[in-house]
Amino acid sequence: MNPSREFDLIIWGASGFTGRLVAEYLYHNYGVNQEVKWAMAGRNKEKLEQVRTEVAGNEVPLVLADSHDAASLSAMAQRTKVICTTVGPYGLYGAELVKACVEQNTHYCDLAGEVLFIRDTIDKHHEAAQANGTKIVNCCGFDSIPSDLGVYYTQKVAREKTGSPAQQIDLRVKAFVGKLSGGTYASLKDTMAKAAQDKSLYGTLINPYSLNPQGEQEGPDQRDLNTVAYDKKAKAWMYPFIMAGINTKIVRRSHALAAFPYGKDFGYSEAVMTSDGDEGQAKAMKEAMALAALMGKAPKQEKSTGDKGQNPARRMPKPGEGPNKEERDAGYYDMRLYTTLRDGNMMVTKVTGDRDPGYGSTSKMLAECGICLAKDETPQQFGVITPSIAMGDALLDRLEKNAGLTFSVVE
Ligand SMILES: NC(=O)c1ccc[n+]([C@@H]2O[C@H](COP(=O)([O-])OP(=O)(O)OC[C@H]3O[C@@H](n4cnc5c(N)ncnc54)[C@H](OP(=O)(O)O)[C@@H]3O)[C@@H](O)[C@H]2O)c1
Repeated sequence: MNPSREFDLIIWGASGFTGRLVAEYLYHNYGVNQEVKWAMAGRNKEKLEQVRTEVAGNEVPLVLADSHDAASLSAMAQRTKVICTTVGPYGLYGAELVKACVEQNTHYCDLAGEVLFIRDTIDKHHEAAQANGTKIVNCCGFDSIPSDLGVYYTQKVAREKTGSPAQQIDLRVKAFVGKLSGGTYASLKDTMAKAAQDKSLYGTLINPYSLNPQGEQEGPDQRDLNTVAYDKKAKAWMYPFIMAGINTKIVRRSHALAAFPYGKDFGYSEAVMTSDGDEGQAKAMKEAMALAALMGKAPKQEKSTGDKGQNPARRMPKPGEGPNKEERDAGYYDMRLYTTLRDGNMMVTKVTGDRDPGYGSTSKMLAECGICLAKDETPQQFGVITPSIAMGDALLDRLEKNAGLTFSVVE
């Protein structure tokens, strides 16, 4: 990466719901043109100017780039060390930017929880990015940082405690309060529409190891939980987690990219836990049905919002809409990692975040990833890679110090 670039990072998509939050976070925590040199980018100058006035004073530089104009993307990539992008759905608007970043040797991070887009990006760009020392890092938000860094942290503790990495980690979401934005809903719809059009894509969506390198797509894990079940380790009922489909694949890709340090028998799963007994079972059933409705058919667009967790809102938000400030500030998450150590004992660790997962917390995570890639000493691993592989301890540190995440041992 060229150290003499004009900017450390550019946030592309700054006029959208999540991009605006990233810009606001950068402005309040890093100022303008100080330790971190950054700019706001988008396709519409008037909209960008308006958002800048609302959240970031008037001095933040603006950059214009449209996903349909490859020259504008290339020019943008040449000016900065890192691009953080919130222009989604990534499957529709993301491919040309990745290409420009690899060609210009500019590090890149996104919020693409889109398995099909990530697989395509790996196939097209991993080798070239690896060869020229570019980091293309997907999933730098709620999906999949708490999972990816949670496992990274837990395995460090397991090694310290027992001298060996753990054999099995089962992440259970204990609490999760937040809502969808229009952009996320559009990404979900785009993935579902592509898979409906081309049935062969279902294989990529359901194969637990589909983001691993070709030839390394095997292991002990089965498909993600798709029903209600009782978890003996957590002593609670559980139901499917909407983010498991991407998070578990990212964790497995991290493991493969690190050359399987936890052993080829390492297993990983995710689900949402409720509680023990009839009440826990009833709640798990209710939430599982709500999730099936969200995934199976588009809920109506007319009625009012207000559901918590992954319960689908009755009226789905349009692009640019999402939870308001009160809702973001009232949100939080608490994830427990039930860990089977190689000596047979159990350990539980946890990851928490202090804002709504999808936007309040995600915008802080993406901004810190961008700064980490631009400024910190990070592992010498390149290509289309995951947050833990790209940034490791440096990111863990930043998330705890600056982004409201905690990683700790419970028992
Ligand atoms: N993984 C996670 O944890 C997580 C969390 C939050 C969001 N996300 C993802 O982040 C993405 C953005 O979500 P959001 O709610 O912020 O969406 P949004 O409000 O709809 O914002 C989308 C942004 O993309 C821009 N855009 C659209 N088409 C473009 C084009 N052709 N060229 C350049 N820019 C273009 C829009 O610009 P205009 O303003 O000019 O229309 C806007 O700035 C979605 O894919 C969502 O799934 C992921």
